[in-house]
Amino acid sequence: MADTIKIGKVTVSRTAALAPMAGVADRAYRLMCKRYGAAYVVSEMVSAKGICYSDRKTAALCTVTDEERPMAVQLFGSEPEFMAEAVKIVLEYEPDIIDINMGCPVPKVVNTGAGSALMRDVPLAAKITEAAVKAAGDVPVTVKHRAGWHYGEPNAVEMAKALENSGAAAIAVHGRSRDQYYSGESHNDIIRDVKQAVKIPVIGNGDVTDADSCVRMYEETGCDLVMIGRGSYGNPFIFDEIDARMNGREYVPPTLEEKMRVMLEHIRLILQLSEKNEEMAMHEARKHAAWYMNGYYGSAKFRGRCYLLSSYAEAEALAEEFIQLQKSRNDNNL
Ligand SMILES: Cc1cc2nc3c(=O)[nH]c(=O)nc-3n(C[C@H](O)[C@H](O)[C@H](O)COP(=O)(O)O)c2cc1C
Repeated sequence: MADTIKIGKVTVSRTAALAPMAGVADRAYRLMCKRYGAAYVVSEMVSAKGICYSDRKTAALCTVTDEERPMAVQLFGSEPEFMAEAVKIVLEYEPDIIDINMGCPVPKVVNTGAGSALMRDVPLAAKITEAAVKAAGDVPVTVKHRAGWHYGEPNAVEMAKALENSGAAAIAVHGRSRDQYYSGESHNDIIRDVKQAVKIPVIGNGDVTDADSCVRMYEETGCDLVMIGRGSYGNPFIFDEIDARMNGREYVPPTLEEKMRVMLEHIRLILQLSEKNEEMAMHEARKHAAWYMNGYYGSAKFRGRCYLLSSYAEAEALAEEFIQLQKSRNDNNL
């Protein structure tokens, strides 16, 4: 058995967690990752202010099903009062953990003073955390932030120490600065510095794409848990691969047939959980289908065709055609 860690009162396996990803890691996605062994999942970010003004999307974004546990609901906001109020509302959905987003780089969020903008105002970040911790009672509050605002000027250590003092139960650090957005190198040394500076668990995040890079993240940073975002695109198997490595179990990668079967399972889940009709819900499924087809002969063309899918039957037929293409290529030794 792999080790476990404690985030407040919550026990989490020390394998790999699914990162919050707005527009990607919805319930269907989280369930697929859970089925393949994700140790912990986080919701898409939800606006604290939006919740307070009873945004109609609140229930869809905050609902936690038992199959997803342990799960955090992630909030973003820049005002301690709204954050506290939002935490109280979110508690009705009984999340295991409440996470605060202090890493989002997009102007729409940053211009409201939330997300990674809080890395430029550590005292306010601390006040927001304090307010959330007070409102959350015995539900642990964690914060996810970046290396810093400007590249080359990391302040993740200062930030993490302040948040620990404010009562945060764990910190997740994405080793990029705000101005790097999602490209360039993610810095494991900054995550290591944070780990050495605080006593609460540190979750390392950035560019983990397989068991090797996961082990590297653990070894280079000493972090307590690894968190994976884009490496899970069309690849929930990554959690099984890491679970196998951490537990000394042999890992057998999925065959193409298995991948296509799982892709169709994922699409069925999207259709089942969506409130939209099949055609509209297939719009949500398209990018996922394309990701499952990555990395094979003829992928580019097939990925393009995924973006035209408008029914489950079409997805099934496309998966079969894709399998046949790879088979005929193998048969012809191409
Ligand atoms: C499409 C997308 C949406 C994201 N949405 C969120 C979010 O809602 N909250 C958050 O804290 N981080 C969000 N992130 C950042 C990821 O959680 C993660 O920190 C980042 O992708 C780096 O990890 P990776 O290299 O494993 O992808 C998002 C990233 C992507 C690519």
